[in-house]
Amino acid sequence: MIYFLTGKQNPQKTKGLIGKKILITAGPTREDIDPVRFIGNRSSGKMGYALAASCAARGAEVILISGPVNLLMDDPSVHLIKVITAEEMYQQCMEYFPGCHAAIMSAAVSDFTPKVKGMNKIKRGNKKISLELVPTKDIAASLGEMKTARQVLVGFALESDNEIVNARKKLIEKNLDFIVVNSLRVEGAGFESDTNKITIIDRDNNIEEFELKHKKEVAEDIVDKLETYMNG
Ligand code: C5P
Repeated sequence: MIYFLTGKQNPQKTKGLIGKKILITAGPTREDIDPVRFIGNRSSGKMGYALAASCAARGAEVILISGPVNLLMDDPSVHLIKVITAEEMYQQCMEYFPGCHAAIMSAAVSDFTPKVKGMNKIKRGNKKISLELVPTKDIAASLGEMKTARQVLVGFALESDNEIVNARKKLIEKNLDFIVVNSLRVEGAGFESDTNKITIIDRDNNIEEFELKHKKEVAEDIVDKLETYMNG
């Protein structure tokens, strides 16, 4: 195992992604319980949008498939597709991935969805109710199965414990080329924050640990790694 500690800023921006088409998923998904309630999560979408901006700035055409977020994207090189549910995100990824050179799966996709969605608002009462949840499709794993040798697939892992071991397992199970690990234990990293602290693990078992940085700078580090995979 080779171990790097990367403390410095990323190198200067390049135009190394000209002619490349990159799919990026971002934000949370929402799974309806009834017409007014849903299961969601705290993802802001900032990491995915920063990745889209970075890829576009380097010359790529970006397909950004985004769950509901409060962010704007006005870069003409970014084709924004808005979705709500995990199933909708899955369908859009299936449609666009075959025409892309790479995909970065930064969305916090809901792992479960209610088995039955109430047609009407569930009424308040004194009785206990329970919600039956069924698993959603794993989009990253599905793209991993259909990936060709020339496509690059990048995933994220948000772990609360055994970060490296669990992330490496995901890297193999989902057939990713590299995985970006966020630790829930690091202050200033994760969902609602403007900053993030990541470690990148690749298939050759290289582990690169980065400092806590603004998400825009984190995006540059991730896209630097992507460029080495795509152009190397
Ligand atoms: O298995 P886990 O949810 O921790 O994996 C996280 C990675 O898988 C992220 O890259 C996330 O975008 C992706 N994922 C997905 N579809 C799901 C669940 C996770 O694409 N249903």
